[in-house]
Amino acid sequence: MENRLATEIAGLKLANPTMLASGILGYTGLSLKSIIEAGAGAVVTKSMGLEPRTGYPNPTVVQTDCGLLNAMGLPNPGISHFKEEMKEIKSTGVPTILSIYGYSSEEFAKVAETAVKMGADALELNVSCPHVKKAGAEIGCDPLLLTEIVKEVKKKVDKPVIVKLTPNVANIGEIAKAAEKAGADAITAINTVKAMNIEIETGRPLLANKFGGLSGPAIKPIAVRCVYDVYRSVDVSVIGCGGITSWQDAVEFMLAGASAVQIGTAIAFKGVSVFSSVAKGIDAYLQRKGFKNVKELVGLAQNY
Ligand code: DHB
Repeated sequence: MENRLATEIAGLKLANPTMLASGILGYTGLSLKSIIEAGAGAVVTKSMGLEPRTGYPNPTVVQTDCGLLNAMGLPNPGISHFKEEMKEIKSTGVPTILSIYGYSSEEFAKVAETAVKMGADALELNVSCPHVKKAGAEIGCDPLLLTEIVKEVKKKVDKPVIVKLTPNVANIGEIAKAAEKAGADAITAINTVKAMNIEIETGRPLLANKFGGLSGPAIKPIAVRCVYDVYRSVDVSVIGCGGITSWQDAVEFMLAGASAVQIGTAIAFKGVSVFSSVAKGIDAYLQRKGFKNVKELVGLAQNY
């Protein structure tokens, strides 16, 4: 029988539309393998750069109402150290997407080339970290800089390039369009929302970095709106991300225009079984509603 959940993103074949979002359990081959074994249709690594980075001092993550607030500061061992980790997952056949960041188009391109050489099936450009200076949302807010980076990466690699956008812009559709025109093969919407919280007895911001990125159910309606806007602005596939915890959330994102959904924060609250519970729930919904394939759901809410 045909798999109702089978789908495609920029030529990558996914057995189901759930993906691991960048930033959670994405540092090692073993942790990524555990997500694959839990049933994810694809995985995205923690963002890697050219050089190792230690990140910010603690506290780097705090729990808040309906979500997590984090400012890790892009800690990572540098892209070349990820080579050994890749060996762990290549044999699974599940698409492995390397999230990368950089401080210039040349640096992005270098990291991209290294990632593809070590076996990445696709790249996700993190141009949307809300608080690391010059390497994050400053790029994702500037269509010209974003264009330069996407073009440079596309020149150097022959794997799909996915661009992960920040919601912290006036018109996310325009930014998505710029990325598509520069050659992006898919768009992920959204990264975390820039946020902060303050402890009232001491009067101090809770995160060592003061500002961070908010994720989890608190940002879901923002993310759904962004997916809806991006879907109307581009022809390439959209990947939804932001607060997906249940199959109902996943279906909502797909109706808005997402071809697949990334799950991150929900793992902290529900464990890795969230991938199979979301996939099973989508499958039952498709069956109940008479859909033959999950692709039929994509963008249906645009008709109203
Ligand atoms: C970090 C946080 C993000 O939201 C992001 O997109 C990238 C990196 C971090 O603090 O490491």
